[in-house]
Amino acid sequence: MAVAAAARERAAKLRRELERHNRLYYVEDAPEITDAEYDRLFAELQRLETEHPELATPDSPTQRIGAPPLESFPEVRHRTPMLSLANAFDEDAVHAFDRRAREALGVETIDYCVEPKFDGLAVSLSYRDGLLVQGATRGDGTRGEDVTPNLRTVRSIPLRLPQAPDTRDLEVRGEVLITRREFAALNERQRAAGEKEFVNARNAAAGSLRQLDSRVTALRPLRFFAYGVGEVPTGAPPTHAKVLERLAALGFPVAEERGVAHGVEGLLAYYVCIGAKRDKLPYAIDGVVYKVDRLDWQERLGYVARAPRFALAHKYPAEEQETEVLDIDVQVGRTGVLTPVARLKPVFVGGVTVTNATLHNEDDLRRKDVRVGDTVIVRRAGDVIPEVVAVQREKRPAGTREFHMPTRCPVCHSPVIRLPGEAATRCTGGLYCPAQRIGALLHFKDRRAMDIEGLGDKLAEQLVDSELVENPADLYALEADQLAALARMGDKSARNVIDSIARSRDTTLARFVFALGIPGVGEEVAKILARHFRALDALLEADWQALAAEKEAARKDNAKRKRRGEAQAPVPLEGIGPEIMDSVRQFLSERHNRRVIERLVDARTGVRIAAEVAPAPARAAKTFVLTGTLPHMTRDEAKSLIESKGHKVAGSVSRNTDYVVAGEEAGSKLERARELGVTILDERGLKDTLDRL
Ligand code: IVH
Repeated sequence: MAVAAAARERAAKLRRELERHNRLYYVEDAPEITDAEYDRLFAELQRLETEHPELATPDSPTQRIGAPPLESFPEVRHRTPMLSLANAFDEDAVHAFDRRAREALGVETIDYCVEPKFDGLAVSLSYRDGLLVQGATRGDGTRGEDVTPNLRTVRSIPLRLPQAPDTRDLEVRGEVLITRREFAALNERQRAAGEKEFVNARNAAAGSLRQLDSRVTALRPLRFFAYGVGEVPTGAPPTHAKVLERLAALGFPVAEERGVAHGVEGLLAYYVCIGAKRDKLPYAIDGVVYKVDRLDWQERLGYVARAPRFALAHKYPAEEQETEVLDIDVQVGRTGVLTPVARLKPVFVGGVTVTNATLHNEDDLRRKDVRVGDTVIVRRAGDVIPEVVAVQREKRPAGTREFHMPTRCPVCHSPVIRLPGEAATRCTGGLYCPAQRIGALLHFKDRRAMDIEGLGDKLAEQLVDSELVENPADLYALEADQLAALARMGDKSARNVIDSIARSRDTTLARFVFALGIPGVGEEVAKILARHFRALDALLEADWQALAAEKEAARKDNAKRKRRGEAQAPVPLEGIGPEIMDSVRQFLSERHNRRVIERLVDARTGVRIAAEVAPAPARAAKTFVLTGTLPHMTRDEAKSLIESKGHKVAGSVSRNTDYVVAGEEAGSKLERARELGVTILDERGLKDTLDRL
């Protein structure tokens, strides 16, 4: 008996705690404990309820994981009908609404309670003696479906309300929806699981709410926002704003953006204000709702047909619309990325007429399987680029064909390439492709590449637009007065830019190779190439087939050595995979790219590449890991120093690490080094070791 009493007490406490944390998380957006702690408390309560089934209660948070599936949803007759709202699409309709209401009431001005119009599904929640007893969909407004087990899984819906006269018999109405963030994560999960993605948050919410198996609903991130009550309870507050306040006090989520607006001007100002925030709100809305605030006035105004005379929905332009794909084009961006674009039958969406929408990349296009002739849903929210969200498969005409990305750049006709692990398809005509002129220039001048100070985005654009520069080689032929003639360019700054271009002439092979902008060749790969070839000519004349064969042979040889327990032999171009080698080969075999490179290294005007110092013998190469702050060197400086001696710098400590260089505030890498018994050096020790090695 004593055990049962203790268990009962503990279960009650856990229930209170869990519901409090639910509220903190889902309603107040201010969690106090981690998900793991929540799960631990939840598991404890579940265990107690299994061991003592008599302790289970209908308001227990354990009820939120769903119940065995139903055959069908029972029908529910709404005690008071769930009506719809009259819509306004322009200001005139709002003025007319306000005028009619003022005339009917015989008053000068009206205060309105204003709220966002959630783009979800209407539901009604019935509470008896503070307990949630039924949840229903709107249905046809008179009869809906009893989806109680599903609504119980929605964590922002209180299962129990505080005991009070108004919670003895209360019907709360509101909207079930999925927030934008949770919708994106949900689709991400669907994608990862190879399941069909949802077209939009509203469809996903509707599908989830109408699951016969509430255990499925429990896995969907549904949220609830209250916007009213069914029948006004006894002793109700005098205004709608106060009703919402009371609902918030009872633990229901209520839109934070609600307010009270004075007269029609107040309504229109609210419309503009929320419109500006629309795409930053956590959930999708399709308008705002105006309700005469005084409940006694609401009653006097009454209803017409199926909508109240005291309320109005003022709609925003729809963010999604259906239209037809007339064609699919491919655009080439500044950095050489190919983007498929759907040419659309013009459609008014998100407040503008849209004729093009992005299809992002090859994978996205394939996944959605968009074809010329398809009917698609187009979305444009805020200032974002319109996109094709989904295809209406059932409307696909006969004879359509799958779209494939081109094998050559539509702008410069160079071959295109797609590197492993990348979504983007890229043009290999980097130094030549007209679409990439600005991008190639900006990459070329980057601090980590040729390091041309004073050549910013604006100037790069001006140089290309004025046709002074077509490719990076043209930079070295520029004269100060040509620059000075450009808008916003004084003599002095022109001079400075010319000087820094001149300074960039003296460079290293690694910087030069990186500056070319070869797909897949970042700083590290450029360094490996430079160390291997040592001179540009050797790189340009490389026999890639022979190199690939050598690499393969070395790899096999090493596998044998490993089995025999022998030391590994150096592999040529270690760290560069076949795809990147192919990308380099492809890039360098483009006649246009070669022509630019030849001009770049022109003996008279071009860059001078310092001879690459012979790397230390590969066998002596050690692996260093840097952690913390050194007294006299930045991390980059220490890295350069180590690499200049032919050694490697790795990002994390492993058994292959030879030295860890630890500075001030070294963290977990130092601990790991100690665990593995790796030699630890300070700055002085680093210098000594490098001299010695
Ligand atoms: S009040 C008697 N307030 O809009 C009017 N409705 O067309 C009761 N909706 O089915 C509705 N946000 O699902 C009201 N803040 C809000 C709302 C809202 C969304 C939906 C509701 C209803 C539809 C009416």
